[in-house]
Amino acid sequence: MGKPKVTVVGAGFVGATTAQRLVEKEIADVVLMDIVEGLPQGKALDMMESAPIEGFRTKISGTNHYADTKDSDLVVITAGLARKPGMSRDDLLFKNAEIISGVVLECAKVSPKAILLMVTNPLDVITYLAWKKSGFDAKRVFGMAGTLDSARYAYFISEALNCAPSDVDAIVLGGHGDEMVPVPQHTKVKGRPVTELLDPAKIEAINQRTRDGGAEIVKYLKTGSAFYAPSSSVVQMVKAIFENSGKMLPCCVYLTGQYGIRDVYCGVPARLGPGGVQEVVEIALTPEQKAALRTSAEHVRENCGKLSLS
Ligand code: APR
Repeated sequence: MGKPKVTVVGAGFVGATTAQRLVEKEIADVVLMDIVEGLPQGKALDMMESAPIEGFRTKISGTNHYADTKDSDLVVITAGLARKPGMSRDDLLFKNAEIISGVVLECAKVSPKAILLMVTNPLDVITYLAWKKSGFDAKRVFGMAGTLDSARYAYFISEALNCAPSDVDAIVLGGHGDEMVPVPQHTKVKGRPVTELLDPAKIEAINQRTRDGGAEIVKYLKTGSAFYAPSSSVVQMVKAIFENSGKMLPCCVYLTGQYGIRDVYCGVPARLGPGGVQEVVEIALTPEQKAALRTSAEHVRENCGKLSLS
């Protein structure tokens, strides 16, 4: 059987790095799409020219036309502006909402059966917008943030414990913003909860560094935001979808009452498969974590209201 067809919209830092990881790992054939003429074509050709050395047999092509993205199995949307120092993700709302509205309509037209995996910030609101604009079943429209926030959390914990980063199985819930909710009692190192391995003050310091993780990178880069860990996080989700592994990953999904939250997109654990979201998983949270998750979801709802979508 041939490889799945994945379109990545936006050939900037996040999009191009995502495309590179997808083809190098032979997960999919990729179409890289951008409005800037030559940019996706040049990056795609450059990647193909690395194939003899890297040894991958998957294909990538670049385009400025949606017709070339036709019948994609999955579309990763990274188009839009990234943060600069001093900006919050919410500051990107109106400009990125305008860009994403157009992008989603075009993608939905040519790939009506695709899964839409959203990356553009502010993530949770943009994913809600994408769901509304596409007219797709909510199971096929979700966003990447929890896997990134959890990867950051896992890395900081591995640093504190001096263990292998991949030995840490971390969970961060909530919207992809300052109110995200790290869940240390479900975050495990080789099966042992972090709450048994680090003292509460250290855990709280790591929780806060995780909430500020994106801003920490923006402060260093000055002209843009993170892209290595974000692209790894997207690829982890794409892999789970096509491999139908049943792995539980924190994803930005549409909630219909789970965790007492309804009609809003927010980060919670979910199982992904070829049809999209297979199951939203409800894990036990402390009353404080439940309240924090709801506050985070209400913040997302408030921002959705600013876009006057019904
Ligand atoms: N259609 C297609 N591509 C577009 C459009 C559009 N309408 N508008 C902008 N783009 C492209 C730009 O030309 C650029 O190549 O989106 C790309 C964005 O790339 P970068 O500026 O490098 O931004 P990046 O770091 O990749 O971040 C993209 O992901 O993590 C989020 O907050 C981040 O919202 C931001 C997004």
